[in-house]
Amino acid sequence: MQELRERIVADGEVIGRDVLKVDSFLNHQIDPAFIQRMGREIAGRFAGEGVTKVLTVEASGIAVAAAVGLALGVPVVFAKKKQAVTQQGDLYSAEIFSFTRRESVHITVAPKYLRPEDVVLIVDDFLAHGEALSGLVKIVRQSGAKLAGAGIVIEKRFQRGGEALRAEGIRIESLAVIESMKAGVITFG
Ligand code: G4P
Ligand code: NA
Ligand code: NA
Repeated sequence: MQELRERIVADGEVIGRDVLKVDSFLNHQIDPAFIQRMGREIAGRFAGEGVTKVLTVEASGIAVAAAVGLALGVPVVFAKKKQAVTQQGDLYSAEIFSFTRRESVHITVAPKYLRPEDVVLIVDDFLAHGEALSGLVKIVRQSGAKLAGAGIVIEKRFQRGGEALRAEGIRIESLAVIESMKAGVITFG
């Protein structure tokens, strides 16, 4: 998506070797009209797949997921994060390790919001190592729902998170793909 690549170049800040800060429109301040255009773009790529539910994980995936759900006319579910491994009850759950925060969190979804008859589109703001995405895929599998694929705003391909999941046949659509950020220079794929 050309507008996104331009916005990343104009407003993005490369932190260290592998973190892209896009706080001006996605991760701190949100540009609602732009988020809506990105949501429409992701929705359009999965039109005709019969999606009945959008799934993301709190917190920063929620805005774009809501925009996708609005465009598709379907509900949006966000997995909740819990620090401690407590009794999970009858929740669907997965453990994800955050390389950025260097900690593991459990993500959970209540079964009543993800049914075996659902067709699920996973949406997230970043795809880095793929921990969040594979955790969400595990949750979809626990529910028995069908997975339509994943729509991602920014994929940092050099962190290779999409590789294993694509190899499993999961369709991943990213609005911007970053091949490298060497010396602060962003190269798109
Ligand atoms: P992964 O899910 O692909 O494995 O990502 P990773 O563990 O590397 O990243 C953990 C968190 O950092 C995720 O947010 C992810 O969205 C975010 N993230 C990863 N790379 C970048 C980046 O280059 N820039 C920014 N701004 N964020 C990045 P989270 O821990 O789930 O937290 P939240 O912010 O959604 O609450
Ligand atoms: Na994030
Ligand atoms: Na996220």
